[in-house]
Amino acid sequence: MARVRVDEELCTGHGRCYALAPTVYDADDTGHCLVPKPEVPDALLEQAKLGESSCPEGAITVEE
Ligand code: F3S
Repeated sequence: MARVRVDEELCTGHGRCYALAPTVYDADDTGHCLVPKPEVPDALLEQAKLGESSCPEGAITVEE
C-alpha cells in the first residue's frame, strides 16, 4: 500500500498524470489533478509512480 499526495499549489494542470495513469489520477473540472483514492494498492503502484515521474512540476509524491 502506498499513499499519493498532490501539491495543489504546484499542480498547474499539465495533465500528464491522468493521461498516462488514469487508473490512479483524474482531472477536476479545471484540468488539475485529482486522486480519487490516495491509498494505492500494490497492484497500482507502478501507475502511481508513472504519474509521479511524469509531472513536470514535481507536484506528485508517492510515499511507500
Ligand atoms: Fe498537475 Fe502535474 Fe498532473 S501539473 S495535472 S499533477 S502532470
